[in-house]
Amino acid sequence: MIFVKKINSTTTFQVRQPVLRPGKPIESCIFEGDDLETTTHLGLYNNSKLAGIVSIFASCHKLFPQVGQFQLRGMAVLDEFQKKGYGERLVSEAEVCIKEQNGSLIWFNAREAAVDFYKKMGYEIVGDAFDIPTIGIHFVMRKMV
Ligand SMILES: CC(C)(COP(=O)(O)OP(=O)(O)OC[C@H]1O[C@@H](n2cnc3c(N)ncnc32)[C@H](O)[C@@H]1OP(=O)(O)O)[C@@H](O)C(=O)NCCC(=O)NCCS
Repeated sequence: MIFVKKINSTTTFQVRQPVLRPGKPIESCIFEGDDLETTTHLGLYNNSKLAGIVSIFASCHKLFPQVGQFQLRGMAVLDEFQKKGYGERLVSEAEVCIKEQNGSLIWFNAREAAVDFYKKMGYEIVGDAFDIPTIGIHFVMRKMV
């Protein structure tokens, strides 16, 4: 059975660490604002196994004038569960959650390797590529919802 539910920030580390911070200490998995009331963490389960995660932060990007901006962070699916539609399901569920909070714009810093995944889901690049030290090239992407 596949299902998505809200999880707490520390549960995300089960996927953040192997996928997004491999070889780095568990502390590197803590994101500023993880435990704010306005932050939501979603986990996708394959039966009892946490297979993918995404986190939603109420956060404005200086490039955008809109009120009701939300940022996706920590989007990740365990290697063995990739290419099964789980990432797409997580982004869709995050969009529903953001619409329920009257969000108008979703943005994030996308890794270069994931840009085409997000494009398939209707997100567009805004601005130039930039480097996040020790992680790599990123692009700001956004979608109006
Ligand atoms: C990027 C990621 C979240 C995608 O999750 P996933 O569960 O493998 O993706 P899905 O199976 O839902 O893919 C949906 C569609 O996007 C495509 N896709 C998936 N990853 C892709 C990628 N990196 N580049 C291009 N297309 C991709 C799939 O082929 C599929 O297309 P289809 O519907 O035509 O078959 C996952 O690969 C991952 O965790 N990668 C490592 C961490 C990462 O880069 N996170 C993003 C940080 S910004």
